[in-house]
Amino acid sequence: MSTDTAARSVQRRVRSVPIHRALPKLVREPAGALAEFAREAGGEIVRLELGPFRPYLVSHPDHVQQVMRLEWTNYQRVGMFWRPLERLFGHSIMGDGEQWRISRKVLQPMFTTRYIATISEEVSRRVAGRIEEWDRYARDGRSFDATTEMSNILSYIVNRVLFGDKLDREDGESIIPAFDTVAHSLVYRFLMPFMPYSIRVPRDRALLKAVKRIDDVVYPIVRRAMAAPDDSTDVISVLCRSTDENGDPLTVTQIRDALVSVYAASSETTAMVITWVWLLLKEHPRVAARLQAEIDEVVGDGPARPEHLPGLAYTRMVLLETLRLYPSGWLLPRQVMEDAEIGGVRIRRGSTVFICPYATQRLDDFWERPDEFDPERFATGDGERRHRYSYFPFGGGPHKCLGEHLFYVEAPLLVASVLSRFRVAVPTPGPYPTGWAASLRPRQKVDLGVSFAGRDRAGVA
Ligand code: HEM
Repeated sequence: MSTDTAARSVQRRVRSVPIHRALPKLVREPAGALAEFAREAGGEIVRLELGPFRPYLVSHPDHVQQVMRLEWTNYQRVGMFWRPLERLFGHSIMGDGEQWRISRKVLQPMFTTRYIATISEEVSRRVAGRIEEWDRYARDGRSFDATTEMSNILSYIVNRVLFGDKLDREDGESIIPAFDTVAHSLVYRFLMPFMPYSIRVPRDRALLKAVKRIDDVVYPIVRRAMAAPDDSTDVISVLCRSTDENGDPLTVTQIRDALVSVYAASSETTAMVITWVWLLLKEHPRVAARLQAEIDEVVGDGPARPEHLPGLAYTRMVLLETLRLYPSGWLLPRQVMEDAEIGGVRIRRGSTVFICPYATQRLDDFWERPDEFDPERFATGDGERRHRYSYFPFGGGPHKCLGEHLFYVEAPLLVASVLSRFRVAVPTPGPYPTGWAASLRPRQKVDLGVSFAGRDRAGVA
């Protein structure tokens, strides 16, 4: 369907997917199912009949733009999908309304391109330090779990941005599994959205315990930082010096909520994208060879440093295309605040709409060979011809991701540092379907193996 057709559409009956089709597909592979329904409907709105819960799937770029930007105040991050998250995030940047506005205003200046440039040196040192630790895998020939290791590295980087030197490595590592437990436990709440909180659902206890573990680490650091404010540039120090609109200092809970929200939004999302990079490279040896050639030329023996970033154009194209096929923020639910109309379909107040970058970014009308991995799509200048909302892995409108600039520093540094030091192998055989999780991840556990690049080149390994 063209943009014109969407604009001219008149009120009409909405297509729907019956429960006997929708449910089994969603349970098996939710992102794939939504992409299939969106494609069958040619980008028109689709209603998913899931018994008492009947959300709308919105995938045409015009409609996405309407929900995320033009009429965003009518599509809020509240309701059954967001309420369970409050147990972890509290009321902060990952919500909506007043608290979101305050947090966004305070946090935004810390994630600009210029600000991120000031910490890129430190980010590259952290990446390099962690990558060197893979030497032990290369020496022993042992493989390791890709998603866990990527999460560990990304958390280590993000912790620096958030906490500076106020969080030691041991505490930092201890909260990674707690966040993982939260992410997995919340799935049950999402699957049973009508269940009141007074009734326990599976893994509720694990969830509360994990949140307590996170709080036990984060609250004392916040209290210490508030008691002895300094002029450091890490997020916690800046938050301690910040005030709200009335000029009052932020409370300990506001600071805790902001830190925990940004941590959750940042580390797993990036870690999963890099995990997909290794899987895609395995399946596309020609892309892998070209990427390797660029990294050999620009970075040499490594590690990658901020000054290499401008030369890593193809690395960036590979990341952009990975984000098209596997956007970690694959499901962005919104609640409709007042009766609305999208693409000629009347939508009642209180309904849920699903925005799914995974589905939109695979629509045939906007992407040639949509399921094919082809970084060339992102060769310079090509983006100008695309609809702004046919590609939105970082969301759009006022809720647009704060971490995009950080991503474009940490992700190329990580990929280039790994490939300048090692050759990566993926012993786990494909295909790699997507699983059920807050951030799009492979369904099965995926192993990685590394060998020393230098020795490979010399033909020793
Ligand atoms: C590949 C990496 C990432 C992806 C794909 C991603 C994706 C997204 C998406 C789609 C949203 C919009 C959510 C919505 O509209 O409901 C978002 C919001 C957000 N992201 Fe990211 N993100 C990534 C990395 C990061 C990083 C590194 C940070 C760290 C600072 C971050 C911080 C945030 C925050 C704070 C928000 C909430 C913004 C708001 O609602 O005002 N993200 N992200």
